[in-house]
Amino acid sequence: MSFKAGRLFAFLLFIALPAAAEEHLPNVVILATGGTIAGTGATSTTTIGYTAAKVGVEGLIAAVPELKKVANVRGEQVLQIASENMNNDAWLKLAKRVNALLAQPDVDGIVITHGSDTTEETAYFLNLVVKSEKPVVVVAAMRPSTAISADGPINLYNGVVLAGSKEAVGKGVLVCLNDQINAARDVTKASTATADTFRTPELGFLGYMQDNKAHFYRESTKRHTAQSEFDITNLDKLPQVDITYGYANASRVPVDAFVAAGAKGIVNAGVGDGSLAEGVKAGLLDARKKGVIVVRASRTGNGIVARNGEVNDDQTDFVVSDTLTAQKARILLMLALTKTSDTKEIQRIFYAY
Ligand code: SIN
Repeated sequence: MSFKAGRLFAFLLFIALPAAAEEHLPNVVILATGGTIAGTGATSTTTIGYTAAKVGVEGLIAAVPELKKVANVRGEQVLQIASENMNNDAWLKLAKRVNALLAQPDVDGIVITHGSDTTEETAYFLNLVVKSEKPVVVVAAMRPSTAISADGPINLYNGVVLAGSKEAVGKGVLVCLNDQINAARDVTKASTATADTFRTPELGFLGYMQDNKAHFYRESTKRHTAQSEFDITNLDKLPQVDITYGYANASRVPVDAFVAAGAKGIVNAGVGDGSLAEGVKAGLLDARKKGVIVVRASRTGNGIVARNGEVNDDQTDFVVSDTLTAQKARILLMLALTKTSDTKEIQRIFYAY
């Protein structure tokens, strides 16, 4: 090769290499739904009393130019809401979009930006209905985008790294904030306003995001995503399931009200091991006689609700939630009811997911 041709070759290599490297970056789609991560406040110290769901997905992406170094990202605005307004219809819309995108060979993973208040519920719903091994990561923030030390940008960055990683494949839907990776099934928002609010009490989080990498140390043993038996492809509505809450002096009034309003299932967040006050139990027994499925969960938020422990569930024909919180048991019961109203079968489902 002549000297001139050699220099031309070196120059071509110089311009081609970065392009080739970029081609090897994972393709990650960011689906934005609103929340504090997209919130704005009046001043940089407004961390309470700001407005959620103001910044669009392109603004979220533009705020983190480092994303370009770790993935080919593109965004879609699926919703723009504060997550206390999340509902079943929005979940169906979001899940169908996630499934459609993950079926594309040019999509390697998905990040969903979400309000933190119901992040755990959306993540668990997706964990049950996404039909793919590809990573799906839900991220949120506790400080609005305008705040000093806003946590949204780093959470989004970590979420994109995680969604593009081989390590997250087949792990089910993940929730990633505060440099920690949590399983959708077990994570909960545990504090009203602190940045470390997402916790998996007792069972523990799955791993860390550190040094631009995902580090896993454990995984959920329960069925999820590609192994799930639930299919929402042809669903445009979910059955009505409501939650009642145990406390000293609780009565059957909320149970009766939900039954009268057409509930097909009731999850009771009972005291202790899912215990029921006499009046509440009488209301739930009457509900069961009308065909309503009753699930006993615990307001403690931890531990297994023992079948035939505080209540003889075989006799009452109730189902226990295993370790699911009431808000997650509601989701599983809605999906179970799309397949069966047999309580033995529903109990099997509760032990499997
Ligand atoms: C919300 O859940 O939309 C508001 C609160 C938050 O995102 O932290």
